[in-house]
Amino acid sequence: MVDNPEKDLLNIRADRDVGFFDLFSIEQISNDDLALIYQLSRAFRGYKTYKFDFNKGCSMVNAFFEHSTRTLASFDLSGKNLSMDTNSISGNSSSISKGEGYLDTVLTLDAYNLKTIVIRCREAGVPEMMARHVRASIISAGDGWHEHPTQALLDGLTMLDHFKSDDLNGKTVTIVGDIMHSRVFGSLVRLLKLLKANIRVAAPETFLPAHVENYGLKTFYSVEDALDGADVVYALRVQEERGANGFIPTLREYSKMYGISRKRMDLAAKDAILMHPGPVRRDIDVHSALVAVDEQSHILRQVENGMAVRKALLWVLCSRCDGKEKEVTLQ
Ligand code: CP
Repeated sequence: MVDNPEKDLLNIRADRDVGFFDLFSIEQISNDDLALIYQLSRAFRGYKTYKFDFNKGCSMVNAFFEHSTRTLASFDLSGKNLSMDTNSISGNSSSISKGEGYLDTVLTLDAYNLKTIVIRCREAGVPEMMARHVRASIISAGDGWHEHPTQALLDGLTMLDHFKSDDLNGKTVTIVGDIMHSRVFGSLVRLLKLLKANIRVAAPETFLPAHVENYGLKTFYSVEDALDGADVVYALRVQEERGANGFIPTLREYSKMYGISRKRMDLAAKDAILMHPGPVRRDIDVHSALVAVDEQSHILRQVENGMAVRKALLWVLCSRCDGKEKEVTLQ
């Protein structure tokens, strides 16, 4: 810990910026972007309670049209930690419930001279569409079944820190569960490709999207085979709110076939870690005893890294060193 946290962060950043104004897909992120985001995230993580004034005078709105605990809380707290003025709206409390569309909603918010709008919604593609029309940076907090890029960023940081490495070359990540309905999977698989991991997925056939192998991964119906020697065991939630329980006989049977138990975890490598994006359905996706207290579980470390990654992103997207302005199409 150095005496001057601001100076520490500014030294790391120097004159570097990320190559995007908005973030709606991991495909926008280059290796240089990733290196910068992770260096800044690690530094922010070292100053958990320090209040930075990097984004003083900047405002952000968290527009969450789907429920959230982790993503909403961590974006809001990160903004406050950087001295931003933050506000949150939800589907139930916003004028969306009176029939206003997403575009008019964000054009309205943009008129308040916001720097950032964080959006979560049920429909895929909404953040990307919005980004074309508003001056604020749009950050996707998850869109439908498509992507959840900041979740993948925090997951990647958690894995790299565990293996003390800059990439995942030679490491095997086994993703288990409801691949089909998962935006977490959509971003994670893209990030794991960038980090050069070997990717396995284990799921009932009904949870595997057509052509999933095109991502260059290996599919398994047997979770035991997929876990054999894995370095990361990444469990996904059965997304009942997206109709996922219509694709399996019962949750109980799913848990019996695919739930991560101690016995199954022991099939992975000795230093393997257990991850889950949350919210966890205890005793369905992961057996209860493994969730928070087991030393292999990195679930709460993922949560902690969420704050660090979101602070780094909010800082670089609010204050571009080169002063470039976004080009937008006005409606
Ligand atoms: N992982 C995740 O997106 O959790 P929340 O839905 O609680 O934000």
